Amino acid sequence: MREVTVDINEKQKTSYPIFIGENLIEKADEYLQKYCKASKYFIITNEKINNLWGNKLNIENSEKFIIPDGEKYKNYETLISILDKASELKLDRKSAFVAFGGGVIGDITGFAASIYRRGVNFVQIPTTLLAQVDSSVGGKTAVNNSYGKNLIGTFYQPKLVLADTKTLTTLDERQLKTGFAEVVKYAFIEKTCDCGNFNFLDFLSNNILEIKKLNLYYINEIVEISCKLKAGVVNKDEKENGLRAILNLGHTYGHALEKCSEYNIFTHGEAVAIGLQVCFDLSFALSLIDENYYNKATELINLFEFNLPEHPYYSPDKIISAMKFDKKVKDGKIIFILPTKEGEVKIFDNIDKNILHNVLL
Ligand code: NAD
Ligand code: GLY
Repeated sequence: MREVTVDINEKQKTSYPIFIGENLIEKADEYLQKYCKASKYFIITNEKINNLWGNKLNIENSEKFIIPDGEKYKNYETLISILDKASELKLDRKSAFVAFGGGVIGDITGFAASIYRRGVNFVQIPTTLLAQVDSSVGGKTAVNNSYGKNLIGTFYQPKLVLADTKTLTTLDERQLKTGFAEVVKYAFIEKTCDCGNFNFLDFLSNNILEIKKLNLYYINEIVEISCKLKAGVVNKDEKENGLRAILNLGHTYGHALEKCSEYNIFTHGEAVAIGLQVCFDLSFALSLIDENYYNKATELINLFEFNLPEHPYYSPDKIISAMKFDKKVKDGKIIFILPTKEGEVKIFDNIDKNILHNVLL
């Protein structure tokens, strides 16, 4: 079992552990007693996850609430159903919410916990690769509304993250690849995270076959390294006043693509995978990186074989106008995180429009 600590350096010091390993959900009670004692545990999950893994998660003194599966249910209605159920159960301020699922469950449960009775403790038990390497760590919570994704939410840190990598064995290939896109992202930002030297890009390239086979030794390793890198960033900039934006490498284009396709063609990770390649194309076109690094990065992205679903052609104008709707736009300027050296990225808000247009053609 591996452990990573999030240790946020703000005025009110926040610290919590992330445990990574196989068969951890069976021991959830032990971890909860140690890291998040509560008067009652309110488990939020969906039917699919509950059918697959629910019988392994035995938490004493708990209530389970099943919400519908899918990004389209990460909305006000589901949020209210969670809050109403918590009220109906008369859960008090000492109760704790437990998110048992992927990023959708984690985001909405975290948000509900942050506002129920002005905030109750919550725990993340992520069951997708994306959630284990990214969304369960760092305290971003959210729901979507008709204006866009994740527009309503809070920063609210869990008390504990239990990443049981055994649960990943029931993910389909598409969901696994979605997580791999976020993993690859860390390889390209490692040095800028400035919290250790993992040589992650080479690690991923050298072990690609075992990783793709879901050899859990390698999966545990990549979840641990990803969490360390994310924690390193969040510790320095919890509320995304600066550095945390680097976690959005590939997302400026990725989010625009999701918006253009009305969120029903690409998974988030597929959109990010294309977005990563666009960042390298753009950096190379702007002469920010040399050909060696461009080729090495492209090769790594290709090794993961992010087979993309069939999709219409989106013109540069359409993509650029979708980019302008992103939360990250500041004073009307589109923000790009771009590679500048191996493992290093910088934040840009003044990309040459013609070069951008040509890269998006
Ligand atoms: P998801 O939560 O929709 O899960 C994907 C699918 O996998 C669902 O159908 C789910 O039921 C199923 N599933 C979950 N665990 C499973 C398992 N062990 N076996 C089989 N199937 C399983 O999607 P996701 O990719 O986990 O998360 C995407 C969400 O995360 C988006 O809403 C995105 O905005 C959010 N996100 C948040 C952050 C953050 O920092 N808070 C970061 C990245 C993404
Ligand atoms: N997934 C981006 C962030 O947590 O900031």
